[in-house]
Amino acid sequence: MMLHIPHILTPDQVKQFRQRLAAAEWIDGRQSVGSQGAQVKRNRQLPEASPLALELGDIITKALVNNPLFYSAALPLRVLPPYFNSYAGGETYGLHIDGSIRVNPVTKQTLRADVSTTVFLSDPEEYEGGELTVMDAYGAHEVKLPAGDAIIYPSSSVHRVNPVTAGERVASFLWTQSMVRDDWQRNMLFDLDQNIQKLRAQHGDSEATVGLAGHYHNLLRLWAET
Ligand code: NI
Repeated sequence: MMLHIPHILTPDQVKQFRQRLAAAEWIDGRQSVGSQGAQVKRNRQLPEASPLALELGDIITKALVNNPLFYSAALPLRVLPPYFNSYAGGETYGLHIDGSIRVNPVTKQTLRADVSTTVFLSDPEEYEGGELTVMDAYGAHEVKLPAGDAIIYPSSSVHRVNPVTAGERVASFLWTQSMVRDDWQRNMLFDLDQNIQKLRAQHGDSEATVGLAGHYHNLLRLWAET
């Protein structure tokens, strides 16, 4: 499932992030990928676990896990500190798959990448190209969102960032290990939860909504690892 999560950062936060990032030291993005990724990755990123990446990343992580839509869709167990990247002058990240197991640079704890998240920090008008393109059974999906908005997609999907042919595309991305490993089960729980929320908003709580909420939690009990 791909899901657009609006307003993870406020316009003021985006502005502050961009100012801090504009003054930062960027390195070659190939430092954080395996051999396949290194062949197709052409961008710049903040050094992993640099103080600035950790400081800004913490704001993003907190905003995401406190966002009801993200929480419901990703069911986060662990979140890796976010990365920050920049594409300009034709830079691109060709078709690739994200590595399945990551190591948290701070805690050294391993994390299984289930859900990938990109938080856009540049507005679409600021650059040409640079669409995040995610492949799934239904085809290729191109995503280019307002600054401050996020997209989540399964880490198991093949994806790319199209060449940025004008302007600069700044973004943050991160991996989440979900309490529910299976994408399909996670989708079913998300769908059920969203429909229960709609029923409650329309009709208030009733014996039926309490029963459905119980069903949701019993499925979560069955499938979740904590
Ligand atoms: Ni990727």
